[in-house]
This record gives sequence, structure tokens and C-alpha cells, in this order.
Amino acid sequence: MAGQKICVVGAGRVGATLIQNLANRNMCSEILVRDNNEGVAQGMCLDIMQSAYIAGSTTTIRVLKDNTELQDCAALFFCAGSPRLPGMTRSDLLLANARVVSEVFSEFKPYLKKTIVVMVTNPLDAMLYLTRKILDVPREQVLGMAGVLDSARMAHYIREKLQMTASEIIAPVIGSHGDLMVPLGRFATVGGIPLPDLVTSDVIADIENRTRNGGAEIVGYLKNGSAFYAPARAAAVMAEAILKDRGDILCASVLLEGEYGFDDVCIGVPIVLGASGCRKILNYKLNDTEKAAFEQSVASVAELITILKNEQVV
Ligand code: LAC
Repeated sequence: MAGQKICVVGAGRVGATLIQNLANRNMCSEILVRDNNEGVAQGMCLDIMQSAYIAGSTTTIRVLKDNTELQDCAALFFCAGSPRLPGMTRSDLLLANARVVSEVFSEFKPYLKKTIVVMVTNPLDAMLYLTRKILDVPREQVLGMAGVLDSARMAHYIREKLQMTASEIIAPVIGSHGDLMVPLGRFATVGGIPLPDLVTSDVIADIENRTRNGGAEIVGYLKNGSAFYAPARAAAVMAEAILKDRGDILCASVLLEGEYGFDDVCIGVPIVLGASGCRKILNYKLNDTEKAAFEQSVASVAELITILKNEQVV
């Protein structure tokens, strides 16, 4: 949208693909990029601006020069840090990426009073918790991208099972962006028809398992990093919801303050997303099995937060 600026931290594969997604669609007037490797950031800015020209877009993409420029950014996407390699869980990245998150946000803090911050770096929910602690802004302003990605993976597996490349599939995934994420097959719909009316419970269980393993499956093939096209597109959808104040209903990580029975933990739940960030958290009426899975998921994030506390990172 004309006149709006965003900042992307990290010009790696996810960050660069996110920037290209937004630039080619003319989603904002300017994208400011911060990466510790200035040469890479400069080269990427030029390359994507030339791509944007071909796409008929007028978005300017340039390296962030001065942190005061962050003050009028509508949103900041944090994609810096190390990706997952084969054999690693997202949690293995905890302390290395926590250092990067702490460094950048301690420096940016004075300039992000109004900006909506979206964390993309893993382990997502713990990095979000750390970010929110450092920035000390209302929780609605600090969110994590993962539900859109995990839901897309689940929708993909539903399409595969139904042998139907249909749109209008809603496939909610709540909980942590980790091995204990909670795909909600019972709440999935295809064109409004509940998934349990279309396939057996065994098929739903299989779809849910593949969803949980969706990131690792790609890491296993790529060998030198993790998925980036779908994560970047998922982040771009969140950027669009914020820039256009669209009120999209999507799953995203947010600090819970009593919702779903939990407090002081960042975890994926359905939210309404607009220019002010999280407008509202929606409540699924979970059954006992789903509640137990969500509880385990919360416990896995709480464990990472405890490590950050013990290491005095938060
Ligand atoms: C994934 C990584 C990026 O799920 O978390 O692909």
C-alpha cells in the first residue's frame, strides 16, 4: 500500500523470499533491510528492486541506514538467525538464535514503540517470548509466524488425500511451532464441509502426523537448511493483513494471558490480525484429547523459556 514502510531483519532465504513476495506485489512503498552482512543485503536489495520493476511494482528496497528510520515502519519481520539442518530440532537453535534476537532488539527497542513485530526465527515461540520481554510493548503488537505455514502444510496434505487441488480449505494448527504442534483435523473444513465428514479418522491422523513432520520432511531433502518458500509466503500473508488492516483470521503465536487456560507463554492460537496487530484471540472448544495435546505443546515451550531464564537471557 502506498506510503507504508516495513523492515525485514535477516536477508537469508526466508527474509529475501519474503521481501520479493511483498515487493513484486507492490504491498508497501518501502522495505528496509537489516543484515549483518551488508554486502549480501545490498546485492539482494538491488536484485529484488529490479525484479519489482519487471513485476510492475514501485516498492523501494534498501538497507536500513539509521535505526530512527524504524519509527514509522508499520511492521518488522524478524528472519535472522540460523536455520535448521538435518538431525536438528527447532529447539536446538535456542541459544544461538536467542543471542541474535537479543542483540538486534536491544538496539532497536527505542524505535519500535508502535511497530507490529512478527517473529519468524526458530524456535519461534521462545524467540517471540524473548522479543516481547525485551521490547516491553503490548502483547497485541508482537506476534509469531508459524500457524499460517503449518496450516498451509495441513491443507496441502488434505488436498493430496482428497486428490483435489481445491481452495477454501481451512486447516487450523495451534500450539507450538515444533514437534508438538496441534493440527486440529476436527476443525478442518473443505468448502465448509467438516473434514471428519469426508475422510476416516485414520486418514485425519495421518494428515495430522504429516503436518507435524512437514518442516523436517523438507529439511531432510534440502540437507543444507530448512524450508523457505512457504515460510516466506506465510509471513507475507501476515504482512498483507497488517498493511491492509484486513482482519484476517489465522493462527499465530501470541503471549497468552489466561486464554486456553494458560499464562505467560507464547503459543499459536487463532487470532484476528490487522493494522494494530492481534485484534482478538479466538477460542476453539477443544475436546479432552486436543486439550491434552495443547497442554503438552505449552509445556514444550515453557521448557525452552525456562532454559532462557536459567541462562539469564530473559
Ligand atoms: C519449518 C521451519 C522453518 O517449519 O520451522 O519449515
